[in-house]
Amino acid sequence: MSRFWKPGTEKPRIIDDEEGGVLFYSASASSSSGYGFSSMEKQRQRLPVFKYRTAILYLVETRATTIIVGETGSGKTTQIPQYLKEAGWAEGGRMIACTQPRRLAVQAVASRVAEEMGVKLGEEVGYTIRFEDVTNNDLTRVKFLTDGVLLREMMDDPLLSKYSVIMVDEAHERSLSTDILLGLLKKIQRRRPELRLIISSATIEAKTMAAFFSTRRHRGPDNGPKKEPAILSVEGRGFSVQIFYVEAPIPDYLRAAVSTVLSIHDQEPMGDILVFLTGQDDIDAAVQLITEEAQSSRKQGLIVLPLYSGLPRADQDLIFSPTPRGKRKVVISTNIAETSLTLEGIVYVVDSGFSKQRFYNPGFDEHQSEITDIENLIVAPVSKASARQRTGRAGRIRPGKCYRLYTEEYFVKEMPAEGIPEMQRSNLVSCVIQLKALGIDNILGFDWPASPSPEALIRALEVLYSLGVLDDDAKLTSPAGFQVAEIPLDPMISKMVLASVEFGCSEEVITIAAVLSIQSVWFPGRGVQKELDEAKLRFAAAEGDHVTFLNVYKGFLESGKSSNWCHKNFVNYHAMKKVTEIRLQLRRIAQRLGIVLKSCESDMQAVRKAITAGFFANACRLEPFSHNGLYKTIRSSQEVYIHPSSVLFRVNPKWVVFHSIVSTDRQYMRNVISIDPSWLTEAAPHFYQRQLLNPNPSQV
Ligand code: CDP
Ligand code: MG
Repeated sequence: MSRFWKPGTEKPRIIDDEEGGVLFYSASASSSSGYGFSSMEKQRQRLPVFKYRTAILYLVETRATTIIVGETGSGKTTQIPQYLKEAGWAEGGRMIACTQPRRLAVQAVASRVAEEMGVKLGEEVGYTIRFEDVTNNDLTRVKFLTDGVLLREMMDDPLLSKYSVIMVDEAHERSLSTDILLGLLKKIQRRRPELRLIISSATIEAKTMAAFFSTRRHRGPDNGPKKEPAILSVEGRGFSVQIFYVEAPIPDYLRAAVSTVLSIHDQEPMGDILVFLTGQDDIDAAVQLITEEAQSSRKQGLIVLPLYSGLPRADQDLIFSPTPRGKRKVVISTNIAETSLTLEGIVYVVDSGFSKQRFYNPGFDEHQSEITDIENLIVAPVSKASARQRTGRAGRIRPGKCYRLYTEEYFVKEMPAEGIPEMQRSNLVSCVIQLKALGIDNILGFDWPASPSPEALIRALEVLYSLGVLDDDAKLTSPAGFQVAEIPLDPMISKMVLASVEFGCSEEVITIAAVLSIQSVWFPGRGVQKELDEAKLRFAAAEGDHVTFLNVYKGFLESGKSSNWCHKNFVNYHAMKKVTEIRLQLRRIAQRLGIVLKSCESDMQAVRKAITAGFFANACRLEPFSHNGLYKTIRSSQEVYIHPSSVLFRVNPKWVVFHSIVSTDRQYMRNVISIDPSWLTEAAPHFYQRQLLNPNPSQV
């Protein structure tokens, strides 16, 4: 085990009540509200937020915007929508919306709330995430949804007129969609004075938020709710958590996490363990390592479970079910368990100090960074704010312990205080197209909670222009621009789908679009890499990964969608089922948009041309004389390599386009297809001039 020492204790703290031009409301406890006393009801009343029930309802009644800050697990997400419903905000055909940045959190809280209310999920209480709508038009009154889905709803109903209250939850995460949503809701509020907003968060972003929603500049009618936002801080009751740091930096946080879990199990009293790693890969690896180690050293009583957003429903349920007596649960999670989900019973937290984060640099300043113009998902250090949240998860039921896999010096001196809003580190192509579709033309002048860089906006406009989505006046083109905006996929994928009509391969390309919307079709196999590689070879297509996916999908259909077949071929059965579901939905959307559904049978050139039409901006050429598979992107000459998981790894065709980049020691392209460079100029003449593609014809 890594060596830890204990510099003191830290009790997770919440907001300091310091006046800042906005109202701070200090609530007094409300008395029992006269409900029945079933055990569920009692449980509800024991949550910290219950004391503030009257105060919250009073503020929502009298204020256009209420900001609620409260520690994770205090009951914000599950209780407030119910309070609103009980107070009549869902009467007269109106609805209450509660948004979450994460899909898994939407599903989990919706089913919890349905259970608490004693109703069937999908009736009075429902949820909607992309490609999954569990609501009923006539019955649903309380609806949980991702912020991205609510943004999409605005396309049909720009003022979100069916909602009486919209609660934007987890606002501290500052996800891209949350920030766009906040900007738009502020506009909607001016048109709909009766709309109420609740912004809730786990940390102290409250003042920035309040300042953003403070509308002194725009004086509204006097009879409506007060325009100044109120801030309510829900007093939590987390127990103290002892923090331990490693004495010296560790080289491998995965191994360190595994050994820390095992020694907690050896030395500490019962209580569940929550481990923060970064993504499905390292989480699956850790689950396997801990399980193996425990078996080989005959350690009893460990239940090791992964938690990340692609997790199937059945596995999610295990995470939330109580730990059997005499057992110890170990949940290995992404930062989803930081604030979005409350796991009861956690006493020990192991914090790697890392998470997977999006990074994007539009690349206008050559001195800034070597990562330019490509959005990367990279493993990066978390902020102090995140580290504190993670620590707090150990103090839920009794005093706990948090093992930080970094030094105290690092925490104090190097860890950034706050994270950077996603808006400022993302590719903004999707964001811009959504705003355009909502008729917001002055993107640069839009009132953002955190302004994105003008360079990133300009780069996004450029890409959309090249995709044929925007015209010379930066307005959506008709019909292509509106169609791309309408398809709930990344604009590049949507464009690929639209282009497939021209090449007569929409059936195939829709399958590819569905596969690109999930994590991976392969079963994660650590320790069975050789077998997995052999299985892949059975489906591998010389053209590249996208065509390989078509082969896998075909095999899956021919097997009668058999789980046995999947198992034999190292194909992820749940992922394939999801692909068929998404595919069905995409076909429906395509039909609605008048896209002709047609199969090109075995003409894979058509498929590759359609992919190029969407992904031309991601074109790369193999460096002439390169012996190690070095590619450079055409646009910005960045150095990239084909990812080892690609069927084109070591094949290295001269010209490729890729779907995404992952960075580890190098920048790797994932999902790669070989192309003919002439297709690039056909697909995007203004993006690629001929001389750019062909600087020295003898080398190409
Ligand atoms: O939103 P906030 O973090 O303030 O709390 P919450 O998600 O509303 O959770 C309140 C309580 O509901 C927690 O104590 C959880 O134990 C419980 N809960 C649960 O048991 N199962 C869920 N799926 C969600 C919440
Ligand atoms: Mg919550």
